[in-house]
Amino acid sequence: MSELAQQEFCITLSDLAAFIGTTPVNIKKKAEKILSKKIKSPWLLPEEVRTVLLAEGYKYPQKVISVQMLKGGVAKTTSVLNMGLRAAMYGARVLFIDLDQQANLSFALGVEDEEVPVWVDIAEKRKSIEECVRFIEPHVDLIPSSLNNSVLDRVLMNSNRNWAQVIKAPLEKIRHRYDLILIDTAPALSAVNTAVTVASDEIILPVNPDKFSFLGLQKNLTELEDIKSDFSLDFTRKILFTKFDGRENTSHELLQKCIDSFEDSLMKGYIRTSSEVKNSIRSGKSLFAGKSPVKEDYDIVTREVLGFA
Ligand SMILES: Nc1ncnc2c1ncn2[C@@H]1O[C@H](COP(=O)(O)OP(=O)(O)O)[C@@H](O)[C@H]1O
Ligand SMILES: [Mg+2]
Repeated sequence: MSELAQQEFCITLSDLAAFIGTTPVNIKKKAEKILSKKIKSPWLLPEEVRTVLLAEGYKYPQKVISVQMLKGGVAKTTSVLNMGLRAAMYGARVLFIDLDQQANLSFALGVEDEEVPVWVDIAEKRKSIEECVRFIEPHVDLIPSSLNNSVLDRVLMNSNRNWAQVIKAPLEKIRHRYDLILIDTAPALSAVNTAVTVASDEIILPVNPDKFSFLGLQKNLTELEDIKSDFSLDFTRKILFTKFDGRENTSHELLQKCIDSFEDSLMKGYIRTSSEVKNSIRSGKSLFAGKSPVKEDYDIVTREVLGFA
């Protein structure tokens, strides 16, 4: 990794120290002892963080998490990207799966190619899942998407095979390699998203402070309950409040409404609004290399996802 990439994809000693509740000097000493080497940089590589945190008694989960919401623009892609990158910085082995034909997640991770193998190639047995996995950075892999995935829904509907297993079945072959598999989805109630739900241990639904977003959430939750009973599933669902703006009444009102309506499933962390987020996803830069307040918000949410809270 280049120095620039290290800053973007590695956790700093000071962030790690704050997480463990000690000083950067102490964490450096501790890491040097555990890793039996001198640490010269102000950050640790994901594999080093993993060794240190395992030695400290932390356990990594084994989960497939999808981020879904039938409304677009609620920060699905932004949340998948930042939770995944941060989880990798904490030493988790992360696989991103982009299942939105808009391919924003793939673009943000630097994969912008209409010829790459995508999930529709797995569904149609042209490629194996292993052939679709791309290495992005240490601890970060991606199964990208492209416009070619736009026919995936039709392929599923015309299939005689068990279409609802089209995500879960191929994933079984590789899921043991990862701690966290994060699936980004298109804003739709589609056959593809039903298959994503079937493959999910956990579903995160982002909601924004606007009325339509809240209505979309309610519709999405009803749909998920139907899928849960139709397919006898056992996933947990979590609601993530995003684009919270402390200066706006609607933000406070809708956050309160979410607390009242979904107390148990509302994630403890929530994401504030910040203009830097837009720039980060467009330039493909990790938020964690900058100073955005949203960096802290996604840090908290990522720890919640990892069970490191
Ligand atoms: N916390 C935030 N503050 C400000 N803008 C945000 C935030 N999160 C996401 N955005 C912006 O909102 C837009 C939609 O986000 P995106 O993640 O693409 O949503 P989705 O995947 O649900 O369509 C993007 O322009 C993104 O940069
Ligand atoms: Mg998106």
